[in-house]
Amino acid sequence: MRVLVTGATGNVGRHVVDGLVAAGVEVRALTRRPAEAAFADGVEVVGGDLETPDPAVFAGVDRLYLFTAGKTATVLEHAKHAGATRVVLLSSMSVGFDDEQVGESHRVAEEAVADSGLEWTHLRPGMFATNLLEWATSIRTDGVVREPYGAAAQTAIHEVDIAEVAVAALLTDKHVGQVLALTSAEVLTKVEQAEAIGAAIGKPVRFEELSPEQWKAEVSDEVPGWVADWLLGIWAGAADVPETPLSTVADVLGRPARTLKEWATDHAADFR
Ligand SMILES: NC(=O)c1ccc[n+]([C@@H]2O[C@H](COP(=O)([O-])OP(=O)(O)OC[C@H]3O[C@@H](n4cnc5c(N)ncnc54)[C@H](OP(=O)(O)O)[C@@H]3O)[C@@H](O)[C@H]2O)c1
Repeated sequence: MRVLVTGATGNVGRHVVDGLVAAGVEVRALTRRPAEAAFADGVEVVGGDLETPDPAVFAGVDRLYLFTAGKTATVLEHAKHAGATRVVLLSSMSVGFDDEQVGESHRVAEEAVADSGLEWTHLRPGMFATNLLEWATSIRTDGVVREPYGAAAQTAIHEVDIAEVAVAALLTDKHVGQVLALTSAEVLTKVEQAEAIGAAIGKPVRFEELSPEQWKAEVSDEVPGWVADWLLGIWAGAADVPETPLSTVADVLGRPARTLKEWATDHAADFR
């Protein structure tokens, strides 16, 4: 079996590649920057952009891990025409939010996948733990995290857990036609997340509460205003009502989801 992995250099995609290789599956990894890509031996690397999908990329592909970008419906047509039978889509829990801008691209991609005639699974993760890499510079330099809503209680998921669920959906028949909402099994406030990173790197990490306005002003060069407002809304909501941890990772993989401390240990070099 040959699986095409799109978004293969990404946080999740690179682990999907590794998981498939470990399972003995032939992997074709798609990237817009093939010269810079570094994958395990045996992985076939192809250049390509999902905005301008090239039918040749899909020749001989049986199954597809699909990152939401570009012309999803055309990608699916090419894949089906080439004889592929299954697609696993990296979607987002944001499809269920009452929010046009962020959830919309995922809603469109989910519909295209469900209408494609291929076997499908939608993965809908909540917050990725990798978002906390935003804290790396200030933790490395000052041992501090400066953000609003330290009481926001979240279920940040390890990217390897998402990838392992994707691999299970690609390689077993159990999840065809399923929508899998994915979170970690623990709920930690931002203050506790900072502490978990500190415990993993063996150095205290302090959470310094900013007002929403202070934070928005501080990040205005890097974070567009509407994204900042969207994030503030999510954090305010999670401070009010803690996010709900789901058992999907354990149900699919038969072992508990990784903890944030495990995630921070895996990424300790980023925070030291
Ligand atoms: N962060 C969160 O909390 C969160 C939560 C839920 C869902 N999500 C969703 O998860 C996805 C992000 O996943 P991720 O973190 O694994 O991805 P990522 O690290 O952002 O990487 C995605 C990869 O996709 C490739 N790519 C981007 N545009 C492309 C295009 N037009 N054609 C071909 N390849 C393209 C890029 O690789 P090359 O440059 O090598 O081509 C990039 O490395 C997003 O759709 C996001 O909405 C995120």
